[in-house]
Amino acid sequence: MTSAVKPEPAALIIFGAGGDLAWRKIGPAMYNLFLDGWLPDKFAVIGVDIKDFSDSQYRERLKDGIDRFSRRGKPADDDWEKFAQAISYQKADFTSADSYKNLSLHITSVEKQLGGNSNRIFYMAIPPAFIETIAEQLGNSGIASDKERDRIVVEKPFGHDLESAKKLNRVICSIFDERQIYRIDHYLGKETVQNMLAFRFANALFEPIWNRNYIDHVQITVAEQVGVEHRGGYYDHAGALRDMIQNHLLQLLCLIAMEPPVSFNADEVRNKKVEVLSAIRKYQPDKVHSYAVRGQYGPGWIEGSKAAGYRDEPGVDKESATETFAAVKFFVDNWRWQDVPFYVRTGKSMPEKISVITIQFRPVPHRAFPSESIENWQPNRLILNIQPEKGIRLRFQAKKPGLKMFLTPVDMTFNYESSYVSDPPEAYETLLLDIMLGDATLFMRGDQVEAAWEVVMPILNLWQSSASTEFPNYSAGTWGPETAEALIARDGKNWLILPLKN
Ligand code: BG6
Repeated sequence: MTSAVKPEPAALIIFGAGGDLAWRKIGPAMYNLFLDGWLPDKFAVIGVDIKDFSDSQYRERLKDGIDRFSRRGKPADDDWEKFAQAISYQKADFTSADSYKNLSLHITSVEKQLGGNSNRIFYMAIPPAFIETIAEQLGNSGIASDKERDRIVVEKPFGHDLESAKKLNRVICSIFDERQIYRIDHYLGKETVQNMLAFRFANALFEPIWNRNYIDHVQITVAEQVGVEHRGGYYDHAGALRDMIQNHLLQLLCLIAMEPPVSFNADEVRNKKVEVLSAIRKYQPDKVHSYAVRGQYGPGWIEGSKAAGYRDEPGVDKESATETFAAVKFFVDNWRWQDVPFYVRTGKSMPEKISVITIQFRPVPHRAFPSESIENWQPNRLILNIQPEKGIRLRFQAKKPGLKMFLTPVDMTFNYESSYVSDPPEAYETLLLDIMLGDATLFMRGDQVEAAWEVVMPILNLWQSSASTEFPNYSAGTWGPETAEALIARDGKNWLILPLKN
């Protein structure tokens, strides 16, 4: 949502500075913002963690992350030297009041070097269990007392269920005002996801048909080829519904289903999304099994290599009942969308990484063509490719050249790669810049997070109270359990995977 304005002087204070997120995402994102001239002239990055690092060791740690993960590759020496000057480190025990006294002195001395106060951005790159403690300590110590300048950034998972999300909201909101809180859902920072707003609300063409009169159904697939990797310990207490659907997939659904906002003011856009979440039908416990299915991967093959089953992954219980795949059929009960199914699915260890949204339009009311002309007939489809390929495709019927009338589906395609020369920024670059600029449009408001939990709670409750006896029920390297095929086949439809290159 960024406009071409530079942020005011800022200090990014990363709690959990020695962890994965700071190393893989935050460091490279800040460095790229620096290279592109988006950072304020006066900025600082202050790492905070329990680990022992000197300033120079911490700089090396961030540089290593940039070397490995930056979309631009290894930094040039000159650029790195300039950027590195802004980095410092403060060792801290997150639970000890003394650590916050030291941190306060550290920040004040860094700000002195910057020549005055800065916007302090407290980034919680830490396991969720620490968030409440750190927020309270920040409040008690007075480090985050400037309501205009100070901000807190909280990563998902935001709570473990509706109750814990409400509690977390209460604690954070007792210290920070809502406008100071930036709850990250990194999907909202993805270029192709932001483009959904542009596509829908900067073009007149689709809005008149963007409703139940013309749209048959919507599909959202977010498939990952990787398994749980090294995150078994976290994932085994989360599962696909919490990890992906409660946040990323419901946010994608909101962008498809929301009403046009009056402006791109953060609250206006977020109000429209909350309306969608509130309108999503909440299923009674005895109906959940008709609308939601779950899966867990067993051993299999991915791209010719043997892949472990979920229960054999490090950190995972050998008898785990956690789902690594979930598919849900949602309904948005309002005038625009009544009775239009939104099929969403996500899973790990699938044949490929692909995130794609398909809008399938209703068939033409009458097919005047003889049956031999329309053997390949398909209804119109609009396909939004989110990743790894990025683009939009409109599929329609055309006459195949020849002496006979024979119809085949063809595509009008917009492909980022061929349309733009420059690399799009990473989601974290967009989001960090927006935080510095104080623009919360792409972040989750407290009521939005709670409304999303309300949507998944009936499914979560049922799945928790009755462990699946069928797990594992899909092999690594396949598209999920048969029940997911049945979920959509019962309605006479099938899952569509349409990469741009097809
Ligand atoms: C994270 C989930 O939020 O999103 C991970 O916790 C998942 O389990 C990741 O792998 C997927 O993100 P992306 O950007 O790779 O699609």
